[in-house]
Amino acid sequence: MTSHVRSGKDVSVLIVDDDAAHAESSAECLRMVGYTVDTAMSGKAGLKALDEKQYDLLLTDLVMSDMDGMELMRRGLRMNPFMAVIVFTGHGSIENAVDAMNEGAADYILKPLSVDGLRIKVGRALEARELKLANIDLRRRLDQKFGFEGIIANSAALQRVVKKVELVADTDVAVLLVGESGTGKELFARALHENSRRRNNRFIPVNCGAISPHLVESELFGHEKGAFTGAAYQRKGRFEYANGGTLFLDEIGDMPLETQVKLLRVLEDGEVYRVGSNQAQKVDVRIVSATNRNLEQEIRNGRFREDLFWRLKGILIEIPALRERTSDIPALVHHYLKEFSHAYGKEITTIDREAISILCAHPWPGNVRELRNCVEEMVIVAKDDRLTIDSIPERIHRSSKPEDRMAGLVGVSIKEVEKELIRNTLASVDGNRQEAAKILEIGERTLYRKLKRYGLS
Ligand SMILES: Nc1ncnc2c1ncn2[C@@H]1O[C@H](COP(=O)(O)OP(=O)(O)OP(=O)(O)O)[C@@H](O)[C@H]1O
Ligand SMILES: [Mg+2]
Repeated sequence: MTSHVRSGKDVSVLIVDDDAAHAESSAECLRMVGYTVDTAMSGKAGLKALDEKQYDLLLTDLVMSDMDGMELMRRGLRMNPFMAVIVFTGHGSIENAVDAMNEGAADYILKPLSVDGLRIKVGRALEARELKLANIDLRRRLDQKFGFEGIIANSAALQRVVKKVELVADTDVAVLLVGESGTGKELFARALHENSRRRNNRFIPVNCGAISPHLVESELFGHEKGAFTGAAYQRKGRFEYANGGTLFLDEIGDMPLETQVKLLRVLEDGEVYRVGSNQAQKVDVRIVSATNRNLEQEIRNGRFREDLFWRLKGILIEIPALRERTSDIPALVHHYLKEFSHAYGKEITTIDREAISILCAHPWPGNVRELRNCVEEMVIVAKDDRLTIDSIPERIHRSSKPEDRMAGLVGVSIKEVEKELIRNTLASVDGNRQEAAKILEIGERTLYRKLKRYGLS
Protein backbone atom coordinates (compact mmCIF):
# COMPACT_ATOMS: atom_id res chain seq x y z
CA MET A 1 0.00 0.00 0.00
CA THR A 2 1.39 3.42 -0.88
CA SER A 3 0.84 6.50 1.20
CA HIS A 4 -1.65 7.63 -1.40
CA VAL A 5 -5.10 6.43 -2.17
CA ARG A 6 -5.06 2.94 -3.56
CA SER A 7 -6.52 3.09 -6.99
CA GLY A 8 -8.04 0.34 -9.04
CA LYS A 9 -9.69 -2.86 -8.13
CA ASP A 10 -8.53 -3.01 -4.54
CA VAL A 11 -10.78 -0.14 -3.45
CA SER A 12 -14.31 -1.38 -2.89
CA VAL A 13 -17.31 0.91 -2.97
CA LEU A 14 -20.95 0.23 -2.18
CA ILE A 15 -23.65 2.48 -3.64
CA VAL A 16 -27.08 2.30 -2.02
CA ASP A 17 -29.96 4.12 -3.72
CA ASP A 18 -33.53 3.09 -4.39
CA ASP A 19 -33.39 5.16 -7.57
CA ALA A 20 -31.91 2.39 -9.73
CA ALA A 21 -30.93 4.66 -12.61
CA HIS A 22 -29.06 6.98 -10.27
CA ALA A 23 -27.29 4.09 -8.55
CA GLU A 24 -26.18 2.58 -11.83
CA SER A 25 -24.94 5.81 -13.38
CA SER A 26 -22.90 6.64 -10.24
CA ALA A 27 -21.48 3.12 -10.22
CA GLU A 28 -20.50 3.34 -13.89
CA CYS A 29 -18.82 6.67 -13.32
CA LEU A 30 -16.64 5.19 -10.55
CA ARG A 31 -15.94 1.91 -12.35
CA MET A 32 -14.56 3.88 -15.25
CA VAL A 33 -11.78 5.21 -13.03
CA GLY A 34 -11.03 1.75 -11.72
CA TYR A 35 -12.95 1.26 -8.46
CA THR A 36 -14.72 -2.00 -7.69
CA VAL A 37 -18.34 -0.99 -7.22
CA ASP A 38 -21.38 -2.90 -5.96
CA THR A 39 -24.87 -1.46 -5.92
CA ALA A 40 -27.90 -2.10 -3.73
CA MET A 41 -31.34 -0.80 -4.63
CA SER A 42 -32.79 -0.56 -1.14
CA GLY A 43 -31.70 0.17 2.39
CA LYS A 44 -32.22 -3.43 3.42
CA ALA A 45 -30.21 -4.78 0.49
CA GLY A 46 -27.51 -2.24 1.41
CA LEU A 47 -27.39 -3.48 4.97
CA LYS A 48 -27.05 -7.05 3.79
CA ALA A 49 -24.17 -6.10 1.50
CA LEU A 50 -22.41 -4.25 4.34
CA ASP A 51 -22.79 -7.31 6.48
CA GLU A 52 -21.21 -9.55 3.86
CA LYS A 53 -18.23 -7.47 2.82
CA GLN A 54 -15.87 -4.87 4.28
CA TYR A 55 -16.22 -1.85 1.99
CA ASP A 56 -13.76 1.01 1.90
CA LEU A 57 -16.47 3.46 1.00
CA LEU A 58 -20.25 3.66 1.28
CA LEU A 59 -22.25 6.05 -0.87
CA THR A 60 -25.87 6.18 0.22
CA ASP A 61 -28.97 8.16 -0.51
CA LEU A 62 -30.45 9.71 2.62
CA VAL A 63 -34.07 9.29 1.66
CA MET A 64 -35.13 5.76 0.72
CA SER A 65 -38.53 4.13 0.95
CA ASP A 66 -37.58 1.24 3.26
CA MET A 67 -34.85 2.72 5.41
CA ASP A 68 -33.42 6.08 6.35
CA GLY A 69 -29.92 6.47 4.81
CA MET A 70 -28.71 7.89 8.10
CA GLU A 71 -29.73 4.72 9.88
CA LEU A 72 -27.93 2.64 7.25
CA MET A 73 -24.80 4.72 7.76
CA ARG A 74 -24.94 4.32 11.54
CA ARG A 75 -25.30 0.57 11.34
CA GLY A 76 -22.65 0.31 8.65
CA LEU A 77 -20.17 2.29 10.73
CA ARG A 78 -20.89 0.12 13.72
CA MET A 79 -19.90 -2.94 11.68
CA ASN A 80 -16.93 -1.26 10.02
CA PRO A 81 -15.78 1.89 11.80
CA PHE A 82 -13.04 2.59 9.26
CA MET A 83 -15.35 2.79 6.25
CA ALA A 84 -15.64 6.20 4.61
CA VAL A 85 -19.22 7.41 4.01
CA ILE A 86 -20.60 9.94 1.56
CA VAL A 87 -24.31 10.72 1.43
CA PHE A 88 -26.42 11.78 -1.56
CA THR A 89 -28.91 14.48 -0.90
CA GLY A 90 -31.35 16.66 -2.79
CA HIS A 91 -31.25 20.46 -2.77
CA GLY A 92 -34.04 20.72 -0.27
CA SER A 93 -32.34 18.70 2.45
CA ILE A 94 -28.90 20.13 3.08
CA GLU A 95 -29.64 20.05 6.83
CA ASN A 96 -29.85 16.27 6.67
CA ALA A 97 -26.48 16.16 4.96
CA VAL A 98 -25.00 18.27 7.73
CA ASP A 99 -26.47 15.92 10.32
CA ALA A 100 -24.94 12.98 8.46
CA MET A 101 -21.53 14.63 8.56
CA ASN A 102 -21.91 15.18 12.28
CA GLU A 103 -22.53 11.48 12.61
CA GLY A 104 -19.42 10.46 10.74
CA ALA A 105 -20.03 10.98 7.01
CA ALA A 106 -16.96 12.36 5.24
CA ASP A 107 -18.91 14.43 2.73
CA TYR A 108 -22.20 14.84 0.88
CA ILE A 109 -23.04 15.01 -2.81
CA LEU A 110 -25.90 17.04 -4.18
CA LYS A 111 -28.26 15.42 -6.64
CA PRO A 112 -28.34 15.56 -9.59
CA LEU A 113 -24.93 14.13 -9.91
CA SER A 114 -21.93 15.75 -11.57
CA VAL A 115 -19.44 13.16 -12.78
CA ASP A 116 -16.35 15.16 -11.86
CA GLY A 117 -17.79 16.21 -8.52
CA LEU A 118 -18.48 12.59 -7.65
CA ARG A 119 -14.96 11.41 -8.52
CA ILE A 120 -13.27 14.25 -6.69
CA LYS A 121 -15.29 13.75 -3.52
CA VAL A 122 -14.79 10.00 -3.55
CA GLY A 123 -11.05 10.45 -4.06
CA ARG A 124 -10.86 12.90 -1.18
CA ALA A 125 -12.88 10.75 1.20
CA LEU A 126 -10.67 7.74 0.48
CA GLU A 127 -7.54 9.80 0.98
CA ALA A 128 -8.79 11.04 4.34
CA ARG A 129 -9.57 7.46 5.30
CA GLU A 130 -6.06 6.29 4.42
CA LEU A 131 -4.63 9.09 6.54
CA LYS A 132 -6.81 8.08 9.44
CA LEU A 133 -5.71 4.47 9.11
CA ALA A 134 -2.06 5.51 8.92
CA ASN A 135 -2.56 7.53 12.10
CA ILE A 136 -4.11 4.62 13.89
CA ASP A 137 -1.21 2.45 12.85
CA LEU A 138 1.24 5.09 14.05
CA ARG A 139 -0.67 5.41 17.29
CA ARG A 140 -0.46 1.66 17.82
CA ARG A 141 3.27 1.66 17.20
CA LEU A 142 3.71 4.60 19.55
CA ASP A 143 1.72 2.74 22.17
CA GLN A 144 4.10 -0.14 21.88
CA LYS A 145 6.97 2.22 22.36
CA PHE A 146 5.57 4.36 25.15
CA GLY A 147 2.93 2.25 26.80
CA PHE A 148 4.10 -0.24 29.37
CA GLU A 149 5.10 -2.69 26.68
CA GLY A 150 8.48 -1.07 26.10
CA ILE A 151 9.30 -0.80 29.78
CA ILE A 152 11.47 -3.54 31.21
CA ALA A 153 10.67 -4.01 34.87
CA ASN A 154 12.08 -7.21 36.25
CA SER A 155 13.10 -6.06 39.70
CA ALA A 156 10.56 -5.73 42.46
CA ALA A 157 11.70 -2.12 42.87
CA LEU A 158 10.81 -1.12 39.34
CA GLN A 159 7.64 -3.17 39.35
CA ARG A 160 6.51 -1.05 42.27
CA VAL A 161 7.15 2.03 40.15
CA VAL A 162 5.12 0.59 37.26
CA LYS A 163 2.24 -0.23 39.63
CA LYS A 164 2.24 3.29 40.95
CA VAL A 165 2.28 4.75 37.45
CA GLU A 166 -0.61 2.50 36.44
CA LEU A 167 -2.58 3.57 39.49
CA VAL A 168 -2.24 7.31 38.97
CA ALA A 169 -2.12 7.42 35.15
CA ASP A 170 -5.79 7.99 34.60
CA THR A 171 -6.18 10.69 37.22
CA ASP A 172 -5.34 14.36 36.83
CA VAL A 173 -3.11 14.47 39.88
CA ALA A 174 0.29 16.14 39.39
CA VAL A 175 3.17 13.68 39.35
CA LEU A 176 6.77 14.39 40.22
CA LEU A 177 9.29 11.86 38.95
CA VAL A 178 12.68 11.84 40.61
CA GLY A 179 15.69 9.75 39.77
CA GLU A 180 19.23 9.94 38.53
CA SER A 181 20.00 10.76 34.94
CA GLY A 182 19.02 7.96 32.54
CA THR A 183 16.76 6.06 34.94
CA GLY A 184 13.71 6.41 32.69
CA LYS A 185 11.90 9.51 33.97
CA GLU A 186 10.82 10.60 30.52
CA LEU A 187 9.82 7.05 29.61
CA PHE A 188 7.52 6.91 32.63
CA ALA A 189 6.19 10.42 31.97
CA ARG A 190 5.12 9.26 28.50
CA ALA A 191 3.65 6.07 29.91
CA LEU A 192 1.58 8.21 32.31
CA HIS A 193 0.22 10.15 29.36
CA GLU A 194 -0.35 7.14 27.13
CA ASN A 195 -2.30 5.41 29.85
CA SER A 196 -4.50 8.36 30.66
CA ARG A 197 -7.73 9.51 29.04
CA ARG A 198 -5.65 12.42 27.70
CA ARG A 199 -3.75 10.12 25.36
CA ASN A 200 -5.48 11.46 22.26
CA ASN A 201 -4.28 14.96 23.01
CA ARG A 202 -0.71 16.13 23.08
CA PHE A 203 2.18 15.22 25.33
CA ILE A 204 4.33 18.34 25.38
CA PRO A 205 7.79 18.10 26.93
CA VAL A 206 9.55 21.26 28.08
CA ASN A 207 13.16 21.09 29.12
CA CYS A 208 13.18 23.78 31.79
CA GLY A 209 16.96 23.63 32.05
CA ALA A 210 17.70 24.05 28.35
CA ILE A 211 15.64 27.17 27.62
CA SER A 212 17.44 30.42 28.29
CA PRO A 213 15.99 32.07 31.41
CA HIS A 214 14.61 35.14 29.65
CA LEU A 215 12.70 32.96 27.16
CA VAL A 216 11.23 30.45 29.61
CA GLU A 217 8.07 32.47 30.15
CA SER A 218 7.36 33.05 26.51
CA GLU A 219 7.98 29.34 25.86
CA LEU A 220 5.58 28.28 28.57
CA PHE A 221 2.90 30.92 28.31
CA GLY A 222 3.32 32.33 24.79
CA HIS A 223 3.60 35.98 23.86
CA GLU A 224 1.79 38.72 21.99
CA LYS A 225 3.22 40.35 18.92
CA GLY A 226 5.64 43.07 20.03
CA ALA A 227 5.70 41.91 23.66
CA PHE A 228 9.49 42.21 23.62
CA THR A 229 12.24 42.85 21.10
CA GLY A 230 12.23 39.97 18.68
CA ALA A 231 8.58 39.06 19.25
CA ALA A 232 7.53 39.67 15.67
CA TYR A 233 4.50 37.40 15.85
CA GLN A 234 1.98 36.32 18.40
CA ARG A 235 2.93 32.90 19.69
CA LYS A 236 1.17 30.17 21.64
CA GLY A 237 2.95 28.80 24.68
CA ARG A 238 3.48 25.16 25.61
CA PHE A 239 0.61 25.36 28.07
CA GLU A 240 -1.79 26.18 25.26
CA TYR A 241 -0.32 23.48 23.02
CA ALA A 242 -0.77 20.94 25.77
CA ASN A 243 -4.40 21.90 26.36
CA GLY A 244 -6.39 18.75 27.06
CA GLY A 245 -3.16 16.78 27.27
CA THR A 246 -0.06 16.49 29.42
CA LEU A 247 2.69 19.05 29.99
CA PHE A 248 5.97 17.41 30.94
CA LEU A 249 8.20 19.83 32.84
CA ASP A 250 11.57 18.15 32.56
CA GLU A 251 14.53 19.26 34.71
CA ILE A 252 12.11 21.31 36.82
CA GLY A 253 14.88 21.87 39.36
CA ASP A 254 16.62 24.11 36.84
CA MET A 255 13.71 26.52 36.44
CA PRO A 256 14.59 30.11 37.38
CA LEU A 257 12.97 31.38 40.59
CA GLU A 258 11.01 34.17 38.89
CA THR A 259 9.45 31.67 36.52
CA GLN A 260 8.60 29.38 39.42
CA VAL A 261 6.41 32.14 40.87
CA LYS A 262 4.51 32.51 37.61
CA LEU A 263 4.19 28.78 37.11
CA LEU A 264 2.71 28.43 40.57
CA ARG A 265 0.09 31.06 39.77
CA VAL A 266 -0.87 29.29 36.55
CA LEU A 267 -1.23 25.98 38.37
CA GLU A 268 -3.40 27.57 41.02
CA ASP A 269 -5.68 29.49 38.65
CA GLY A 270 -5.76 27.15 35.66
CA GLU A 271 -5.22 30.09 33.33
CA VAL A 272 -2.25 31.55 31.51
CA TYR A 273 -1.44 35.04 30.36
CA ARG A 274 0.68 35.37 27.24
CA VAL A 275 3.64 37.65 27.79
CA GLY A 276 2.46 41.16 26.89
CA SER A 277 -1.23 40.36 27.34
CA ASN A 278 -3.65 40.81 30.19
CA GLN A 279 -6.20 38.46 28.68
CA ALA A 280 -6.38 35.18 30.60
CA GLN A 281 -6.60 31.89 28.66
CA LYS A 282 -8.17 28.88 30.36
CA VAL A 283 -6.01 25.78 30.11
CA ASP A 284 -6.64 22.19 31.10
CA VAL A 285 -3.35 20.37 31.42
CA ARG A 286 -2.04 17.54 33.51
CA ILE A 287 1.37 18.37 34.94
CA VAL A 288 4.10 15.76 35.12
CA SER A 289 7.49 17.03 36.18
CA ALA A 290 10.88 15.42 36.58
CA THR A 291 14.21 16.19 38.14
CA ASN A 292 17.46 14.50 39.00
CA ARG A 293 18.13 17.06 41.72
CA ASN A 294 17.25 16.78 45.35
CA LEU A 295 14.48 19.38 45.52
CA GLU A 296 14.34 19.42 49.32
CA GLN A 297 18.00 20.39 49.28
CA GLU A 298 17.29 23.03 46.62
CA ILE A 299 14.51 24.42 48.82
CA ARG A 300 16.85 24.65 51.81
CA ASN A 301 19.34 26.49 49.62
CA GLY A 302 16.69 28.94 48.48
CA ARG A 303 16.80 27.82 44.86
CA PHE A 304 13.38 26.21 44.71
CA ARG A 305 10.04 27.43 46.03
CA GLU A 306 8.52 25.19 48.64
CA ASP A 307 4.92 26.09 47.67
CA LEU A 308 5.62 25.08 44.05
CA PHE A 309 7.23 21.86 45.24
CA TRP A 310 4.04 20.90 47.07
CA ARG A 311 1.96 21.72 43.99
CA LEU A 312 4.07 19.56 41.70
CA LYS A 313 4.40 16.74 44.14
CA GLY A 314 0.82 15.49 44.07
CA ILE A 315 2.33 12.04 43.83
CA LEU A 316 6.05 11.49 44.13
CA ILE A 317 7.50 8.61 42.15
CA GLU A 318 11.11 7.73 42.81
CA ILE A 319 12.89 5.71 40.17
CA PRO A 320 15.77 3.81 41.72
CA ALA A 321 19.23 3.88 40.16
CA LEU A 322 20.08 0.87 38.03
CA ARG A 323 22.81 -0.30 40.44
CA GLU A 324 20.11 -0.63 43.11
CA ARG A 325 18.11 -3.01 40.95
CA THR A 326 20.69 -5.15 39.23
CA SER A 327 18.12 -7.82 38.43
CA ASP A 328 16.86 -5.50 35.68
CA ILE A 329 20.24 -5.63 33.96
CA PRO A 330 20.04 -9.04 32.25
CA ALA A 331 16.53 -8.30 30.93
CA LEU A 332 17.56 -4.88 29.64
CA VAL A 333 20.66 -6.32 28.01
CA HIS A 334 18.60 -8.91 26.15
CA HIS A 335 16.05 -6.29 25.16
CA TYR A 336 18.68 -4.00 23.67
CA LEU A 337 20.59 -6.90 22.22
CA LYS A 338 17.54 -7.76 20.14
CA GLU A 339 16.89 -4.15 19.20
CA PHE A 340 20.43 -3.37 18.05
CA SER A 341 21.08 -6.71 16.50
CA HIS A 342 18.06 -6.03 14.31
CA ALA A 343 19.03 -2.41 13.67
CA TYR A 344 22.55 -3.34 12.55
CA GLY A 345 21.44 -6.31 10.52
CA LYS A 346 23.28 -8.81 12.72
CA GLU A 347 22.08 -12.08 14.10
CA ILE A 348 23.30 -11.98 17.65
CA THR A 349 21.06 -13.95 19.94
CA THR A 350 23.01 -14.66 23.10
CA ILE A 351 25.41 -13.16 25.56
CA ASP A 352 27.81 -15.21 27.69
CA ARG A 353 27.18 -15.59 31.40
CA GLU A 354 30.54 -14.08 32.33
CA ALA A 355 29.74 -11.04 30.25
CA ILE A 356 26.38 -10.59 31.98
CA SER A 357 28.07 -10.88 35.39
CA ILE A 358 30.49 -8.12 34.51
CA LEU A 359 27.66 -5.91 33.31
CA CYS A 360 25.74 -6.60 36.53
CA ALA A 361 28.73 -5.53 38.61
CA HIS A 362 29.22 -2.19 36.87
CA PRO A 363 27.78 0.76 38.84
CA TRP A 364 26.19 2.43 35.75
CA PRO A 365 26.35 6.09 36.76
CA GLY A 366 24.46 6.90 33.53
CA ASN A 367 21.90 4.22 34.38
CA VAL A 368 19.77 2.65 31.63
CA ARG A 369 20.93 5.13 29.01
CA GLU A 370 24.55 4.16 29.63
CA LEU A 371 23.70 0.46 29.55
CA ARG A 372 21.83 0.92 26.29
CA ASN A 373 24.79 2.70 24.70
CA CYS A 374 27.09 -0.01 25.98
CA VAL A 375 25.03 -2.81 24.43
CA GLU A 376 24.87 -0.90 21.16
CA GLU A 377 28.63 -0.62 21.16
CA MET A 378 28.99 -4.32 21.95
CA VAL A 379 26.67 -5.29 19.12
CA ILE A 380 28.60 -3.11 16.67
CA VAL A 381 31.98 -4.63 17.52
CA ALA A 382 30.80 -8.23 17.91
CA LYS A 383 32.22 -10.58 15.30
CA ASP A 384 30.20 -13.71 16.05
CA ASP A 385 26.59 -14.44 16.71
CA ARG A 386 27.12 -13.97 20.46
CA LEU A 387 28.40 -11.32 22.85
CA THR A 388 31.34 -12.33 25.03
CA ILE A 389 33.50 -10.62 27.64
CA ASP A 390 35.70 -9.50 24.75
CA SER A 391 32.84 -7.38 23.41
CA ILE A 392 32.65 -5.40 26.65
CA PRO A 393 34.18 -1.91 26.37
CA GLU A 394 37.42 -1.48 28.31
CA ARG A 395 36.08 1.25 30.64
CA ILE A 396 33.35 -1.11 31.88
CA HIS A 397 35.86 -3.92 32.44
CA ARG A 398 37.98 -1.61 34.50
CA SER A 399 35.18 -0.36 36.73
CA SER A 400 34.00 -3.90 37.29
CA LYS A 401 37.39 -5.26 38.46
CA PRO A 402 37.08 -6.46 42.04
CA GLU A 403 40.12 -4.56 43.31
CA ASP A 404 38.74 -1.24 42.02
CA ARG A 405 35.30 -1.89 43.35
CA MET A 406 36.68 -2.71 46.78
CA ALA A 407 38.77 0.46 46.97
CA GLY A 408 35.82 2.57 48.08
CA LEU A 409 34.85 0.23 50.88
CA VAL A 410 37.43 1.25 53.46
CA GLY A 411 35.66 2.40 56.62
CA VAL A 412 32.82 -0.10 56.32
CA SER A 413 32.45 -3.20 58.52
CA ILE A 414 32.76 -6.70 57.08
CA LYS A 415 29.20 -7.38 58.18
CA GLU A 416 27.85 -4.48 56.14
CA VAL A 417 29.87 -5.49 53.11
CA GLU A 418 28.68 -9.07 53.38
CA LYS A 419 25.06 -8.06 53.71
CA GLU A 420 25.25 -5.77 50.68
CA LEU A 421 27.14 -8.37 48.66
CA ILE A 422 24.56 -11.03 49.37
CA ARG A 423 21.68 -8.72 48.60
CA ASN A 424 23.16 -7.65 45.25
CA THR A 425 24.19 -11.13 44.23
CA LEU A 426 20.70 -12.44 44.88
CA ALA A 427 19.20 -9.59 42.91
CA SER A 428 21.48 -10.31 39.97
CA VAL A 429 20.22 -13.90 39.72
CA ASP A 430 16.59 -13.05 40.30
CA GLY A 431 16.55 -14.38 43.85
CA ASN A 432 17.77 -17.84 42.88
CA ARG A 433 19.59 -18.99 46.05
CA GLN A 434 21.33 -21.92 44.44
CA GLU A 435 22.85 -19.67 41.80
CA ALA A 436 23.76 -17.00 44.34
CA ALA A 437 25.51 -19.51 46.58
CA LYS A 438 27.54 -20.73 43.62
CA ILE A 439 28.71 -17.23 42.71
CA LEU A 440 29.56 -16.43 46.34
CA GLU A 441 31.35 -19.76 46.66
CA ILE A 442 29.54 -20.70 49.87
CA GLY A 443 27.16 -23.54 50.67
CA GLU A 444 23.46 -23.03 50.21
CA ARG A 445 22.85 -23.68 53.90
CA THR A 446 25.44 -21.07 54.87
CA LEU A 447 23.73 -18.61 52.56
CA TYR A 448 20.39 -19.40 54.14
CA ARG A 449 21.78 -18.76 57.63
CA LYS A 450 23.29 -15.45 56.58
CA LEU A 451 20.04 -14.36 54.95
CA LYS A 452 18.26 -14.96 58.21
CA ARG A 453 20.90 -13.22 60.25
CA TYR A 454 20.75 -10.10 58.05
CA GLY A 455 16.99 -10.12 57.82
CA LEU A 456 17.16 -10.58 54.04
CA SER A 457 14.97 -13.64 53.68
N1 LIG B 1 12.84 0.27 32.42
C1 LIG B 1 13.23 0.57 31.18
N2 LIG B 1 12.97 -0.28 30.16
C2 LIG B 1 13.37 0.00 28.92
N3 LIG B 1 14.05 1.09 28.57
C3 LIG B 1 14.34 1.99 29.52
C4 LIG B 1 13.94 1.78 30.87
N4 LIG B 1 14.36 2.83 31.62
C5 LIG B 1 14.98 3.66 30.78
N5 LIG B 1 14.98 3.19 29.51
C6 LIG B 1 15.62 3.81 28.34
O1 LIG B 1 16.77 4.50 28.80
C7 LIG B 1 16.94 5.73 28.13
C8 LIG B 1 16.92 6.86 29.13
O2 LIG B 1 15.62 7.02 29.67
P1 LIG B 1 14.97 8.46 29.92
O3 LIG B 1 15.33 9.41 28.84
O4 LIG B 1 13.53 8.26 30.19
O5 LIG B 1 15.75 8.84 31.25
P2 LIG B 1 15.67 10.17 32.14
O6 LIG B 1 15.50 9.73 33.53
O7 LIG B 1 14.66 11.09 31.57
O8 LIG B 1 17.13 10.75 31.98
P3 LIG B 1 17.66 12.27 32.12
O9 LIG B 1 17.54 12.65 33.56
O10 LIG B 1 19.09 12.18 31.70
O11 LIG B 1 16.83 13.10 31.23
C9 LIG B 1 15.84 5.80 27.12
O12 LIG B 1 16.33 5.29 25.89
C10 LIG B 1 14.76 4.88 27.68
O13 LIG B 1 13.97 4.35 26.66
MG1 LIG C 1 14.95 12.98 30.65
